[in-house]
Amino acid sequence: MSLLLLGRWSAAERDGCLALLQAAMPDEQWLLAPPSNPAEAAEVEVAIVANPEPGSLGGLPNLRLIQSLWAGVERLMQDLTLPPDVPLARMVDPAMNEAMVHTALWAVLSLQRGFFDVLAQQARREWRQPAQPRAAEWRVLVLGAGELGGRVATGLALQGYKVSAWSRRPARLDGVQSLQGEAGLSLGLAQADVMINLLPLTEQTRSFFDAARFAAMKPGASLVNLARGAHVVEADLLAALDRGHLRRAVLDVFAQEPLPSEHPFWQHAKVTVLPHCAAQTDPRSAVAVVKRNILALRAGATLQHLVQRQQGY
Ligand code: NAP
Ligand code: GLV
Repeated sequence: MSLLLLGRWSAAERDGCLALLQAAMPDEQWLLAPPSNPAEAAEVEVAIVANPEPGSLGGLPNLRLIQSLWAGVERLMQDLTLPPDVPLARMVDPAMNEAMVHTALWAVLSLQRGFFDVLAQQARREWRQPAQPRAAEWRVLVLGAGELGGRVATGLALQGYKVSAWSRRPARLDGVQSLQGEAGLSLGLAQADVMINLLPLTEQTRSFFDAARFAAMKPGASLVNLARGAHVVEADLLAALDRGHLRRAVLDVFAQEPLPSEHPFWQHAKVTVLPHCAAQTDPRSAVAVVKRNILALRAGATLQHLVQRQQGY
């Protein structure tokens, strides 16, 4: 049997990942392109994927596990040829969690202390000290309280911020107010100084941040989007920033990536653009996650981090 490694990535990225996988699992047979004939296809037991081209996972009769190297699986789920009955696992990795917590801390701290404005002042050679609100005077709303959102919420609470987290089911997180439903969302949006989006992209959450949701936010609040660009109606965000209702948007993800050079976000004084780098997969630790699931599959043990296909995440 063989392991199929597929992604939309550069040859260097693929080879770097492959070298680590081979070192961790030296006895495996590896296939690096969709099988070219039925005999090769019948050999594939596990597909390890980084958003491969749609259609690449069809026609594999003995496939037993699809392991994503990405945490978000919405692109995979949009592939209509994805075999419906094969377990799909997503990437959950402590190194990715840590990177996301650090990015969120940087964004919230920079907003709270006015450091984005200070950077803009430097470009104008302007010496002006910003106000210094305390962390305990700031409320952060984290949307999504899962692997990433949950850790971001507790990490911010440990730094002294007032933190609420909104999720479908109640979340038990130390020092964090758990909110659910439309009532919880309205309360959270009205109270928070900064919103951090860490929802998965599903039918329910696409275009989540629209004109109505921006209007429900406290005047002067900021949005930090670390999840997916399609969560945000970009024109509505620009309008909310331009009329002064929102203070700033820190955006790691966009409807179109890379962000087109003519996009208004690039030059907007109230927008900080990051190139989808909030928490990238770190192959050095991700291979251990992959290996654990392959060993569990072969031992008939419980697979970790399976996607609930019906709920979309
Ligand atoms: P996760 O563990 O599946 O957590 C998702 C959270 O969202 C859960 O708390 C879930 O609620 C909540 N949720 C889902 N649908 C909801 C809805 N309709 N209403 C309210 N809450 C809802 O996901 P994760 O590992 O934290 O990752 C979140 C997302 O981050 C990924 O899907 C990906 O898009 C993004 N991401 C971005 C980067 C980057 O570098 N920018 C890196 C990695 C991941 P329950 O707890 O009740 O299920
Ligand atoms: C990155 O955005 C991921 O989903 O892993």
